[in-house]
Amino acid sequence: MKLNKFIVIDFDSTFTKVEAFDALAEISLKDHPDQKRMVSKIIEITNQGMDGSLSFRESLEQRIALLSPNKRHLEQLIKVLRDKVSESFKRNREFFQTYADNIYIISNGFHAFIDPIVMEYGIKQENIFANRFQFDEQGNVIGFDKENPLSANNGKVEQLKRLNLPGDVYVIGDGYTDYEIKHAGLANKFFAFTENVERESVLKNADHIAPSFDEFLYLNNLNTAISYPKNRINVLLLENVHPVALELMKAEGFNVETYTAALDEAELCEKIKNVSVLGIRSKTQVTAKVLENANRLMVIGAFCIGTNQIDLKAATKKGIAVFNAPFSNTRSVVELAIAEMIMLMRNIPDKSAKMHLGKWDKSATGSFEVRGKKLGIIGYGNIGAQLSVIAENLGMKVFYYDKEERLALSNATKCKTLKELLTISDVISLHVDGRESNANMIGEDEFRSMKKGVIFLNLSRGHIVDIKALQENIANGKVGGCSIDVFPYEPISNNEEFVSELRGLPNTILTPHIGGSTSEAQENIGNFVPGKLMDYINTGSTSNSVNFPNLTLPILENAHRLIHIHNNVPGILAKINLILANNEINIAGQYLKTNESIGYVITDIDKEYDKEVIKELRAIENTIKFRVLY
Ligand code: NAI
Repeated sequence: MKLNKFIVIDFDSTFTKVEAFDALAEISLKDHPDQKRMVSKIIEITNQGMDGSLSFRESLEQRIALLSPNKRHLEQLIKVLRDKVSESFKRNREFFQTYADNIYIISNGFHAFIDPIVMEYGIKQENIFANRFQFDEQGNVIGFDKENPLSANNGKVEQLKRLNLPGDVYVIGDGYTDYEIKHAGLANKFFAFTENVERESVLKNADHIAPSFDEFLYLNNLNTAISYPKNRINVLLLENVHPVALELMKAEGFNVETYTAALDEAELCEKIKNVSVLGIRSKTQVTAKVLENANRLMVIGAFCIGTNQIDLKAATKKGIAVFNAPFSNTRSVVELAIAEMIMLMRNIPDKSAKMHLGKWDKSATGSFEVRGKKLGIIGYGNIGAQLSVIAENLGMKVFYYDKEERLALSNATKCKTLKELLTISDVISLHVDGRESNANMIGEDEFRSMKKGVIFLNLSRGHIVDIKALQENIANGKVGGCSIDVFPYEPISNNEEFVSELRGLPNTILTPHIGGSTSEAQENIGNFVPGKLMDYINTGSTSNSVNFPNLTLPILENAHRLIHIHNNVPGILAKINLILANNEINIAGQYLKTNESIGYVITDIDKEYDKEVIKELRAIENTIKFRVLY
C-alpha cells in the first residue's frame, strides 16, 4: 500500500526492548572471570560515547574489543532478541507488512543481528541501515566497516542525508541520536518512544511522546491492528493489588495508576472520570454515585471473590462488565477455617492469652479433637465444598446446607433445611455469598437452634451475622468458641481503630478480613483478574463475568468485531442486522446472550465497510455502549 510519508525506526530499546550490546555482553562474557567489571566498563564507555568525551567510533571500537564476540555469540544474540521485540511492535506486524516500502530501520547497531529480527516483520533488507562487522576466518569479530556513516558521530543524520527520501519523514526512537535527525532538519516529526526507556533529554525535544507504537499509529491515522492505543486506556488499581497485575497490565500497554489504599466515595467520584478499567479489592465501595461519574469505565476487576462492594445493578445498567477471582483464594480461606476450628476446640485463644499474662493453666477440660465431630457448612460453593473435602480428611462428619442444588462431595450429607444443619452441628462454618438478602441470616433465632457449646466461624461476609446476637450468645455460653474474619463495618485503613462488641470475649478469634490474604492467593488473583479484563477489552469475551451474560468468543481473525450492549428489550438484534444488510455488510459470525437487564451482541463482519454504519449502529434506541475491535 502507498503512503506519502517515510517512517524511520530505531532498533535498540525501540524495535526491541533491550540494547543489543547489553544482551551480547551477557552472552559473550558469560564465562569470563571478570564479567562484572567488564560489563561496568562497557557501560562507562557507552556513556562516554554519549557525553562526547569519546567519539562514537572510539566507543564502538573499545566496546567491541571488550566484548570480543564471534559468530556463535551472534547466533545466540539473535535468539534472545527475537523474544525481546517490543510488545507494541509485535502486535502491529500487519502494519510493517502493509507499508514495507515506507519503513526504514536506521541504527548505530549492526546488520548481523538487526536484519534477521526486523525482516521477520516484513521490513525490506534494502531499507535497513546499520553497521557491518568484519570477521576473521574463525568467525571472530575483528572490527567494523569504518566507511559506514553510522559508525561515526552524527551518523543517523548523515545516513538520512544520503537517503534523500522524497516525502515527509517521521522518526521514532528512544535516543538523542534519533532526535538529532529532526534537529538537523531532515525529519518533519520526532516521536520519543517510551515503551522501554524514558530519557529526559529526549522527551523534552519530542514533537510527541509515544508510549507505544500503537500511539504513533493512532496519532497518524495508520492503525490497522488495534482500534485504540492501549496507552490511552487509563487503568486505576486500588488497594495494593499484587504487583503481578500491574506488570501484566503494563506489558499490555495500558496507562496504569496504582494506589495502596482504598479511595472514599468522593475521591473515587473524581478519579473515576478518566478511568476505563478499575481494579479494586474488597474495601473500595463502587456505589451508584461513583458509577454516575464513570463515563469512560468499561470494566471493573474485583481482585477478590466477593463483589457486594460494587453496585452491580448500576454497573450493568451502564454497560460496565464486572469480573472477580472466584477461586483464586479458596484454598487460603479453607486452610484458615480448618486451623481455627482446631484452635477453638482446644480453647487455644484463651490459653495463649493467659500464657502471655504469665498464667500456666494445664488442663484437658473442654478440649476436644475435631475428629468425629459434625461440621455444618452453610453455603456449599467454591469454599464450602473444598472445606468439606479437607475436613472430611481430618475425620469430621460433614453436613451442608445450600439454597441451590449442590453435588455432595465424598461422604458429605446434604441438609434439607438450615435449621436441620444448625441443630446437629458441633462446628458451624458460614460460606454463603454476600448478596443483600443474606443480611443477618444468622441471628437470635438461628443461635437458639444451635447446640450448646457450638463452635461458630464466619469467614464469608460481615453483614451475614447479627453481631449483637453473636455477642450475647458468646457471653451466655451458647457459643463455645468463635472465629470471625469479616465484620459489618471494617476499618478503611490500618490506621483506623477496629471497634466491635466482639472485642475481649472468651475463646474468640478475631482476624482483620485475612481469610484469603496469602501470598499464593494474591498472586493467583493478580494473574487471573487481568487476564479476564484484557480478554474483555481485546475480544469482548465475558466468560466468568459476574453481571454480564457470559459469552466465550472465538479469536478475531481477518474481521472486525462489533460489540453492542443494550437494554434487554425485544428487536435489537433485528435492528442491528437490518442496518448491516442495508449497508451490504457480510456477517462472518454473530453471538447474542441476554440476562434480565441487558443484551450483549457480538457481530464479526468483513474488514471493508463504510465507517458511517458505526454511527447508525450507535444510534439504535436502547444502546448502552458500542465499540469496534479491529
Ligand atoms: P460461592 O458463590 O462459590 O458460594 C456461595 C454459596 O452460598 C453458593 O453455593 C450459594 O448458592 C450459597 N448461598 C448463598 N446464599 C445462601 C443462603 N442464604 N443459604 C444457603 N446457601 C446460600 O462463593 P465462595 O467462593 O465459596 O465464597 C464464599 C464466601 O466467602 C463469599 O461471601 C466470599 O465473599 C467470602 N470470602 C471471604 C474471604 C475472606 O478473606 N474472608 C476470601 C474469599 C471469599
